[in-house]
Amino acid sequence: MKLASTALAGPALVALVALGGPAFAGSAEDIIAAEKCSKCHTASTTKKGPSWASVATKYKGNADAPNKIFLQLKNGGKVGDEDDHKKVAASDADIKAIVAIVLSSK
Ligand code: HEC
Repeated sequence: MKLASTALAGPALVALVALGGPAFAGSAEDIIAAEKCSKCHTASTTKKGPSWASVATKYKGNADAPNKIFLQLKNGGKVGDEDDHKKVAASDADIKAIVAIVLSSK
């Protein structure tokens, strides 16, 4: 009996975290839409810019990635071959949420 309840606790926790996710991701996703990132990026296909998924793959295991991308989005300017990458007009917390969306894309 004890075992069964422990086994249930895992999925229940995951469900709670997943429920918390969308509320947080919601505003970041609104900003992505409002800032028209989707003109050049989508989650999984390459347009003018790389897909979020390919960015996530590129930075996989790189502990500096969230900070690096955060600064790129906050300051704009040179990003790879893009000389004048869009600067995101949002709070630091929102930009971090956008970075989290990008890096968790598959
Ligand atoms: C006008 C087109 C365009 C728009 C709009 C645009 N991007 Fe980009 N973005 C690019 C291009 C092109 C690159 C690739 C530059 C390179 O690596 O050569 C890029 C790269 C990136 C990267 C990867 C950076 C890296 O270090 O590899 C991220 C993350 C990113 N963009 C996020 C965003 C977000 C978030 C928005 C909306 C606020 C946005 N972009 C809007 C064109 C765009």
